[in-house]
Parts: sequence; structure tokens; C-alpha cells
Amino acid sequence: MSKRISTLPHLLRPRAPGEPVSRWLVDALQASILDGRLRPGARLPATRDLAREYGVARGTVVAVFEELTAQGYLRSAVGSGTYVHDTLPADLSPGSLPAAISSGARPRAAAARRSAFARRARSFGASSPGPARAFRTDLPALDLFPTTLWAQVAGRRLRRLTAHDLRGCESLGYPPLRAAVADYLRTARGVRCDAAQIAIVSGAQEALDLVARLLLSRGGRVCMEDPGYIGATRVFEAWGARITGVPVDAEGMRVPSPRTTAAEIAYVTPAHQFPLGVAMSLPRRLALLDWARTARAWIFEDDYDSEFRFSGRPLPALQGLDTHGVVIFSEASAKSSSLRCVSATSCCRPAWSTHSLPGSRSSRVTRRCSRRRCSPTFLRDGHFGRHIRRMREIYAERWTTLRDSARSELAGALDVSPIEAGLQTPAFLAAGVDDLAAARAAADRGVETTPLSRYARRPLARGGLQLGFAPVEPSEIRRGVRELARALEGLSSGR
Ligand SMILES: Cc1ncc(COP(=O)(O)O)c(C=O)c1O
Repeated sequence: MSKRISTLPHLLRPRAPGEPVSRWLVDALQASILDGRLRPGARLPATRDLAREYGVARGTVVAVFEELTAQGYLRSAVGSGTYVHDTLPADLSPGSLPAAISSGARPRAAAARRSAFARRARSFGASSPGPARAFRTDLPALDLFPTTLWAQVAGRRLRRLTAHDLRGCESLGYPPLRAAVADYLRTARGVRCDAAQIAIVSGAQEALDLVARLLLSRGGRVCMEDPGYIGATRVFEAWGARITGVPVDAEGMRVPSPRTTAAEIAYVTPAHQFPLGVAMSLPRRLALLDWARTARAWIFEDDYDSEFRFSGRPLPALQGLDTHGVVIFSEASAKSSSLRCVSATSCCRPAWSTHSLPGSRSSRVTRRCSRRRCSPTFLRDGHFGRHIRRMREIYAERWTTLRDSARSELAGALDVSPIEAGLQTPAFLAAGVDDLAAARAAADRGVETTPLSRYARRPLARGGLQLGFAPVEPSEIRRGVRELARALEGLSSGR
């Protein structure tokens, strides 16, 4: 029997009044997949048919399919169509969901009972389990982490375990770890902080969630870099924020216009902008701080992967320039150090109460030993610093391999930007080449790329692809570049 679904009558829940079309379509398709109405392997209708059936623009359906493909719900096969992925991201597969959801029992009634937050929340960031092919962006070189050393350090701590360690930990984290992190951030990143201002979190998403719960009022405005990091937008949207995209130029995010002075939070990546890679200039940093003071807004500084600077002057954190306590500094990238902390002057006391409510009080044993790359001993004994220095060299070699092979094989077709820091780079396509088509052509040749337009709220002046190099061996980087060159050649000859 064919798995083809020619139409989706009654399959998608109706759109709520005022609900944006693309958000509804993403949510409705996700729900149909998760409750089993759309089974793994099922083929979806053609975008044209779906658009006609539900009275929406075809471009919207295409963009939604792209997004669900990136999230791991769908896969597309060239010339044959779009299918529900056979293996859903582990945390989303029907078997792992609560029975009421996975059985498909009365899903619409259940949806109606969800909170406004749950209806707005769109999943983000399920990493696919496959190998680290060129040019995967969501992984560090996990195989090079000193796991044996880590296990020895953790083992020593476990041997000294006492009954006291079995108690719940303080909600903002194990105090000696917070102190070690504060020391590190003061010296390595120029952050002005002490241990009392540090919260240990599980990643950037948790840091953003904590900050949104703490500082955002209902319907409050958040300024986001455009193009910018989708993970942050998702969190703020789930909390009901109104998002304003602020353009990025060669000096980083522009200062929001006076029309957006009502913004409550501005999210920025000043060390190297995500995804364009530019560092925010000093005058722009000062102007942004000025704006935040006048607008009485907070700045969320996402310092992801900033340890990995390959050239240029190291840039201290924006938070270090802040004399009014308006910057919340987050070093929470799984790719670099996994320090996973948030530091904020003046909002630490309320953060304590806010974070204590969901009961994030794992035992001291977990806090002392099992944070993947971060424990007080690992930091204080210098293992962490050594690991970062070693990885900086390895990543620098991978970056150089990518840059040099792109120069010789991709000249004229893809212009790889000269980044100074970070573990992925933007690469710009020749004028008029569509980045979604380019990413699809690359995927057909076994090369993973992310179209830059995926991160943009407004059309970009020039299409491009984001390429990651951290988990990719140099030989695989060279293969990726060769395949990418062929993919782009095919695209321009087919135009
Ligand atoms: C801009 C940005 N911030 C933060 C992160 C880190 O997220 P997490 O800590 O959840 O891994 C990433 C990861 O890709 C990122 O791209």
C-alpha cells in the first residue's frame, strides 16, 4: 500500500484567530507527527496541494517544510517528495511521550487544555545522531574531550562522598563551582562578577528561559539581531514576547531605533555575531549600553564559543564595560567550555527565587561531578584551560583547512568569510543564487549546510550558507568543499 497522503483533510487542527499562519502550520504538523496521525515514513502532500487545500501561500508551506526538516521531523528526497522522518529526534518520538499524547487520544481536546506558553512553544535543537560530516554546525569535537581525565577527577570526588553531598543543591548551583566560574570569567573574559552573581544552568536555552521568566513582562518587546540565533527567538516567543529584528552591519547589531525604546531586552552576540561572525566595535558597544540605560532595557550578552579566537585582538565581554548593571552575561555553549552559567548584577537575588520554583535542585553529587566539562576541580586544577588551549589549536587547523580549500575550489561560487573566532563561518553565494536551493543541492551530495536566510527575519542582501568545522576532520572538510563546488556548479548550470 502506498504511504502517500494526497490530502490532509481534518488532519491539521484549525488555526486559532490571530495565530500567524507559519506558526500554526509548524505547530499543527508537529502535533500530527507527534500524536501518530502522520506516521514515520509517511509522505506529505506536495507543497502546492497543501497550500491550496488550506488556503495559504506556497512559499509559507515551503518555509515550514524547511524548518521541520531542520528540526528533524521531516526529510526530503530529491525528485520524490517530503516524508515524515523514520527516526524522530529521540526526545520527540511518540514512544517517549506521555501516553495521553502518544496514543493520539483526543489530541484536539488536549491541545485546547494546553497553557498559552505550551501553545506558543516550538521545539528547538534536537541534534541528529548521525556522524559529524562536513559541515555540521551543532557539535564540537566530542571525540577529543579528555574523558579519561574527566572520569579520574569525578572518581576522586565520588570516593570522598559524604551524606551531606546527597542533599539538594542550592538552586543557582553548587557554591564552589560558582566561585570557580566567577574567577575564570573575571580573568578570561573580563566579566565583572563575583560568585553570588553566577547561576549554573544546563545550556543557553535554560539561561534564556530563566532570563525571560525573570525580566520579560507579558507582550514585552525583545530586540533580536537580524539575522540571529533562532534558539533565543524561540524562548522569547514562547514567553509571549513581541520580537523586533534589528539589522546587523560590519560593526555588529545596530543600536535599536528610538521607536523601540520600549524594548525590555536586547539579545546580542558581540564577540562574534551569530551567524555573520562580525565582532561588535567599541563605539557600537558603548552606544548600545547607552541605549539600554536610556530605554531601561536589559542586554542579554550571549558569549557563545568566544574562547575560540584564531586571530585579531581578544575582545573582553561587553558586560565588563557596563557600569550600570544592565548586561546579563551568558557563557553557556555546549560547544566550547560548557561553563553554562549566567552572570548578572542586580538580578541575582530575584533569579534565586525564580530558579528555585521549578526545583532545579539536583544533588550536590551531580553538581560536583557530572557537569560534562565543568567542575570546580576541573577548572581550578587547570585541566579546563589546557583543554581549551588544545582545542583552540585543533579548531584553528580545521578552520584554516576550510578557508584554504574553499579559496582554491570555490572561488567565484562561494565566498567564505574571514572569521576571527567561533566554530562556524558564513559563506556568501554568487548574486542571485538562492541559499535554500544551494543547501538542498549540497545535501544531495552528502554535505550539511544551513541557509543563512533561515536565521533572517528580512530578506538578506546576499544569500549564503553557514558552514561548521569543529567536529569535522580535515580530510572530510576537503571532501565537503569538493562536493559543495560540484553542487554549486550543477546549480548554476541548471539556472
Ligand atoms: C548563538 C548561540 N548561542 C548559544 C549556543 C549554545 O547553546 P547550548 O548551550 O544550548 O548548546 C549556540 C549553539 O549553537 C549558539 O549558536
